[in-house]
Amino acid sequence: MLYLKNVTYHPPATPQAIIENINLTLAPQKLGLIVGTSGSGKTTLLEILAGLAEKTSGEILWDTDELTPEELQQLSGIVFQFPERHFCGNNVLEELRLGHPELSAIRVKEALTEVGLEHISYDTPPHALSGGQQRRLSLAVQLIRQPNILLLDEPTAGLDWLMKDQLVNLLSRLKQHWTLLVVTHDASDLVEIADNCWRIDNGRIESVNPDIFNVKKKPKIAFNKWEKVI
Ligand SMILES: Nc1ncnc2c1ncn2[C@@H]1O[C@H](COP(=O)(O)OP(=O)(O)O)[C@@H](O)[C@H]1O
Ligand SMILES: [Mg+2]
Repeated sequence: MLYLKNVTYHPPATPQAIIENINLTLAPQKLGLIVGTSGSGKTTLLEILAGLAEKTSGEILWDTDELTPEELQQLSGIVFQFPERHFCGNNVLEELRLGHPELSAIRVKEALTEVGLEHISYDTPPHALSGGQQRRLSLAVQLIRQPNILLLDEPTAGLDWLMKDQLVNLLSRLKQHWTLLVVTHDASDLVEIADNCWRIDNGRIESVNPDIFNVKKKPKIAFNKWEKVI
């Protein structure tokens, strides 16, 4: 269970706090969705939870243990916005094992299976994959480390509608095993699979009822027809 208690981030160079007094609880195997406009503090919050930036005050706990940035780096896996821009392996296997050459072949296979890429060849260059497959690979790169919590920054950005739908289905499956915290400026793609929703504005968050995002239900039957055609 993840707990944030009065978490504030106020770098000395900025006149105002970027993250202010955030309280949040996220249970295991849930998907939490934080929605806010550009500049509201979404990426900064994820960087703090990934141990890449250090909060100024407040507490971050997993169950009863308060976590240092180093412990957060172990606990969390962060998938940045447009993660495919940061691929640096020559092929899928290298990408998955970057920094972890000791990872077993079984772990590699499990991570690819988890994201539905079990059929791709390990020697495929990441840039030869489709856009949707690249997003899945970047999820596998984090899952292979088996983090307690997966942090996703704008996971549907830049995908076409079919890839978005497939990714949303995948995230919905992943929460059976993992705890996910997702930030986005566009609630419409993800609100249907969210267990908890918050709105973030100027570094402050409030818990909200997902209905406020007023998302139209997708025409599931029509989509399934298309899926068969494609
Ligand atoms: N390291 C930093 N130092 C100063 N200001 C920052 C820093 N990182 C982000 N900001 C500012 O904090 C605010 C929130 O940024 P960000 O977390 O990137 O928002 P979002 O991801 O919601 O678009 C913005 O006004 C941004 O300019
Ligand atoms: Mg951002």
